[in-house]
Amino acid sequence: MRLASVAAVTGRGVCVMCKFGIVSHDSTRRWRSGQTHLAVNQAPSGYAGSNPARRTMKYLVINASPHENGGTSKFVHAFTEAAKKVGEVKVLNLHDSPPAYSRGDNAPSMIETMYQREVLACDALFIATPTYWFNTPSILKAFVEEIDGIESMLWQRARALGIAVYAPQGGELGVASALTFPLNHMNFVLVDVGYIFHRGIPIDDWAWEDLALMPERMRRVIGR
Ligand SMILES: Cc1cc2nc3c(=O)[nH]c(=O)nc-3n(C[C@H](O)[C@H](O)[C@H](O)COP(=O)(O)O)c2cc1C
Repeated sequence: MRLASVAAVTGRGVCVMCKFGIVSHDSTRRWRSGQTHLAVNQAPSGYAGSNPARRTMKYLVINASPHENGGTSKFVHAFTEAAKKVGEVKVLNLHDSPPAYSRGDNAPSMIETMYQREVLACDALFIATPTYWFNTPSILKAFVEEIDGIESMLWQRARALGIAVYAPQGGELGVASALTFPLNHMNFVLVDVGYIFHRGIPIDDWAWEDLALMPERMRRVIGR
């Protein structure tokens, strides 16, 4: 029996995050703030098929590299060129306006920063980043922690997610988990082949074709 049917038969909500019914695995912060799990029958709108009228897709590109001509910038260029064909694109480089590292006091449900505003306005988020010590650069971690402050607003509708990681010396999987897990918990949906990596060698050149297809895949996932 599908989980949605279970909810219909039992009349009980099923958490769309854990899929195991109403269980208390959530963070103490969320319980303290009174925000409980979303049930399947209260799932946010914005999934494929829910919006028959096509609207312009808004793509937000986050560049986590300080280098204008590095491997990361090639991802940004490839994605941006493809996204312009199917929607509006805004590119932000974290090094132009570094997010502050978290002090552990994000006010829930308050829009306080430019990145929070831009993320809320977008339909799809594309992150291009180098790998620093098998993980995201700290500036990108700060970005993820910053948008945690608008987590409950992000749950109003789903947004598509795409990630491209430049890792000439390896460590790209650390970046994958550091981004996909928190962003998935903030209602971002990783599109098909939405995780791209390139190690600067020809065998990874499959990445360019999937980057060119990614904006259209994001549009389909969001249903625009
Ligand atoms: C602190 C630091 C740690 C790094 N760690 C890694 C790593 O784990 N894996 C890797 O592939 N490259 C690593 N690098 C090298 C970067 O991949 C390299 O600087 C690359 O040029 C960054 O891409 P970009 O030019 O697009 O910014 C590291 C660089 C720095 C500054």
